[in-house]
Amino acid sequence: MALIHALDRQRNLKTTNLASRWTHLAMMFQRLFLLQSFLLLSLTTATAKRLNTIPRLSPIGPRVWRDQPDKTTSGEFDGEDFETFFYNQTLDHFNYRPESYDKFPQRYLINSKYWGGANVSAPILVFLGAEEPIDEDLAAVGFLVDNAVQFNSLLVFIEHRYYGKSIPFGSREEALKDASKLGYFNSAQAIADYAAIIIHIKETLRAQYSPVIVIGGSYGGMLASWFRLKYPHIALGALASSAPILYFDDITPQDGYYSIVTKDFREASETCYQTIKTSWSEIDELASKPDGLSMLSKKFKTCTPLTNASVLKDHLDTMYASAAQYNGPPTYPVNEVCKGIDGGGFGDDILSRIFGGLVAYNGNLSCYVNAHTDPSETAVGWQWQKCSEMAIPIGVGNNSMFPPDPFDLKDYIEHCKSLYGVPTRPHWVTTYYGGHSIKLILQRFASNIIFSNGLRDPYSSGGYVTNNIEKDNDFVTSDCHMYKI
Ligand SMILES: *[C@@H]1O[C@H](CO)[C@@H](O)[C@H](O)[C@H]1NC(C)=O
Ligand SMILES: *[C@@H]1O[C@H](CO)[C@@H](O)[C@H](O)[C@H]1NC(C)=O
Ligand SMILES: *[C@@H]1O[C@H](CO)[C@@H](O)[C@H](O)[C@H]1NC(C)=O
Ligand SMILES: *[C@@H]1O[C@H](CO)[C@@H](O)[C@H](O)[C@H]1NC(C)=O
Ligand SMILES: *[C@@H]1O[C@H](CO)[C@@H](O)[C@H](O)[C@H]1NC(C)=O
Repeated sequence: MALIHALDRQRNLKTTNLASRWTHLAMMFQRLFLLQSFLLLSLTTATAKRLNTIPRLSPIGPRVWRDQPDKTTSGEFDGEDFETFFYNQTLDHFNYRPESYDKFPQRYLINSKYWGGANVSAPILVFLGAEEPIDEDLAAVGFLVDNAVQFNSLLVFIEHRYYGKSIPFGSREEALKDASKLGYFNSAQAIADYAAIIIHIKETLRAQYSPVIVIGGSYGGMLASWFRLKYPHIALGALASSAPILYFDDITPQDGYYSIVTKDFREASETCYQTIKTSWSEIDELASKPDGLSMLSKKFKTCTPLTNASVLKDHLDTMYASAAQYNGPPTYPVNEVCKGIDGGGFGDDILSRIFGGLVAYNGNLSCYVNAHTDPSETAVGWQWQKCSEMAIPIGVGNNSMFPPDPFDLKDYIEHCKSLYGVPTRPHWVTTYYGGHSIKLILQRFASNIIFSNGLRDPYSSGGYVTNNIEKDNDFVTSDCHMYKI
């Protein structure tokens, strides 16, 4: 009886305080995400505009960028405060076939140093892993520790299935072998995993009244917002940072991404923009001359001789896009590239200037462009995700510093089919999670989701950006402006 009474009191406490507590948290996060530009460096997802030129823009952006993220503005990350656990996760949450019951170890980490405990219903902040091993996020999202201190919250990081140490079928090789095994590698299974683990943690800690806030960036941000929509009984709120939830179907114009890349460069330097715009035809022209490819190879100090101009153009395309996507402090790579191009340190002609941009971005290397590198886990995993459900239609329009290159869905699907034997389902994301008429739907149905976007981020073209904060239904939006990434 006494216990029930206590629980009732807690529940009352919860209902009266939760709204204000949430608003507070929301504001806090919003500010933090504005400040934590580098967080998204390692989270923002990039997608090739055409799959057959992968890796055009894989999320390895930050790792090719030579400078370390600036950690001075973030909370100190202390790995020692995190304890690692493995949850015996169900392979397939949605079917009852014998193999659906297979299990795999899923990694998650907990920092309980600052937690106020279940007795006071102290909050639980859950970072939802995305297309990378969770270790890489831990290093990047140190600022969550600041929040943990402020709100006496428990911090949980959960790794996405098929990445890092959360691999089904015993080994990565086996798990990625073919489409029948890759078939369990999708967002719906991933957020169901998160639901199972969060419930498990709350049960273990007897923390049923602790509010849960889920947090993620880029693809992880999409997962956070979708989690809130699908599991409102588990997460009280979500923070979705730089989440292009509307870059599906025809909701966002296909040229959105590259338009913003172009705009970023043009704003940094008009001459730089002009030089890049002119360079594509110069490359083609030189490539078509006898001996032109070897001249290009020499000019760009390529690691192996070019056999066609596409390799070079794709490399430059990726570089410009990554620079724009990760255009945050302290380095502001768009400015760096443009300084290299405008500086003309390697010669005055267009191609020498472009080479100057390449050097400015990469630093002094013994060779450039087509160095052999093993594809990252992210590149391999995300390619499957793009080919199965995360088909983000990115093309290049006519008003761009890139040559026009409209997105071709038919090509995309064919290419994916040739890679995996199964075609893409380009409309499933909007069928399952929504996206059309998003504003109306969110207003009527959703609450407690913060979408934060940096308007210079090319992916913000597919983000949920409004110009007002709609407090009435507790739905807070933020268009975090101009800088972030
Ligand atoms: C995971 O669950 C399965 C089935 O319930 C069980 O057979 C297996 O021993 C468990 N594994 C671990 C590591 O607990
Ligand atoms: C939480 O409350 C329970 C029941 O009142 C009590 O036994 C326990 O000691 C409390 N725990 C903490 C950490 O205060
Ligand atoms: C260009 O060369 C690369 C590397 O040799 C090759 O993979 C690619 O298919 C070629 N592209 C075209 C369009 O010929
Ligand atoms: C690259 O090399 C050039 C010439 O050797 C030098 O002037 C420049 O400072 C070097 N840049 C970097 C980033 O090391
Ligand atoms: C781009 O220009 C081409 C050729 O002028 C035209 O056919 C095409 O419709 C234009 N595309 C867009 C999106 O405006």
